[in-house]
Amino acid sequence: MDPPSNLGKEIALKSMNTLRLPSTARFFAEVTDEQALVKALNWADAQGLETLIVGGGSNLVLVADFDGLVIHLAIKGRQWENVSEDGATLVLGAGEHWHDVVLYVAGSGYRGIENLALIPGTCGAAPVQNIGAYGVELKDTLVSVKAWDCEQQKMIILDNAACQFAYRDSLFKRLPRRYLIVQIKLRLSRTLPLSLGYGDLMQYFSDLPDKAALTPLDVAEGVMAVRRRKLPDPEQIPNVGSFFKNPVVSMAEWEQLKAKFPDIAAYPGDSSVKLAAAWLIDQCGWKGYRNNKVGVHNHQALVLINHSNGTGKDILALAGRIRADVADVFGVELEIEPRIISG
Ligand code: EPU
Repeated sequence: MDPPSNLGKEIALKSMNTLRLPSTARFFAEVTDEQALVKALNWADAQGLETLIVGGGSNLVLVADFDGLVIHLAIKGRQWENVSEDGATLVLGAGEHWHDVVLYVAGSGYRGIENLALIPGTCGAAPVQNIGAYGVELKDTLVSVKAWDCEQQKMIILDNAACQFAYRDSLFKRLPRRYLIVQIKLRLSRTLPLSLGYGDLMQYFSDLPDKAALTPLDVAEGVMAVRRRKLPDPEQIPNVGSFFKNPVVSMAEWEQLKAKFPDIAAYPGDSSVKLAAAWLIDQCGWKGYRNNKVGVHNHQALVLINHSNGTGKDILALAGRIRADVADVFGVELEIEPRIISG
């Protein structure tokens, strides 16, 4: 069996992950269409090699070299379907850059993903952790996902329900080796109300007399301004966004925590409460911490940063110390959000 046409060997991955962690791929190939992906997978399989799919590299912690085939998924494509007066469906290649798509969609007057502006990464990665921000999640607009099923060895379509979306979670996150996403389909609206209810966003637009005149592009720009105030740009300061999930606790645990820590920041739901992990970490004194390699962002305690030549091990060591402190002080376990690749 022939190897992928552009097969590279011993390729440095530092520039391909937004934490800028050092790691070398034994083999590397970029694929720009589905056939090339399947060919690369078959070749790796025949050689007995593990594969790792990388899109924007914005949700990866590379802890070691990768002794297999890294496939950079660069399948592009933006195609409108079922255009009607109130909305349209947009089919996107997995390698499309998410934020560019948000600006393109909002700029075309369509609503549904404007609150997800500036989230780093590609369209193919978006369903994996069901990206969400400012009161909106990908699952609110996602119609279906096309993916290569490594078990059945064929392309399949999963509708929204089949993706089993939850807060920062999906079928793809639970079974990371089974499905490789090649395309997503979104249903966008021309008429749905804009979602301006999230604290920071509400405050940003608070002086505006006529919110009805806001366009989706205005909202995307508001989100970008709010994010830029709090979150580091991965191009300037290497990071993967939130390093931990906001932990979900029962109502009973919440009552106990609130009695002990009356100022605790949280998002109460109907039957459980999501705690703001940033608040817990901040209270333990970690915000702005840095050693000579890695640290915690000084405006958002959820974000770990690679300041200077840190490795995946340095990042995980820091995450471990933070988790231990939060468990000691609050009795709450923090779960790491990005995917850890240990070789
Ligand atoms: N807070 C602190 N210290 C901090 C930061 C925040 O005490 O250093 C408190 C704030 O006072 C606030 C609360 O924590 O009351 C929540 O903070 P924020 O509004 O920044 O939201 P978050 O829950 O920390 C989540 C997402 C972000 C997303 C924002 C806005 C998760 C794990 N993170 O953060 O996602 O941008 O909401 O919707 O759910 C990302 O995934 O990379 C990301 C940045």
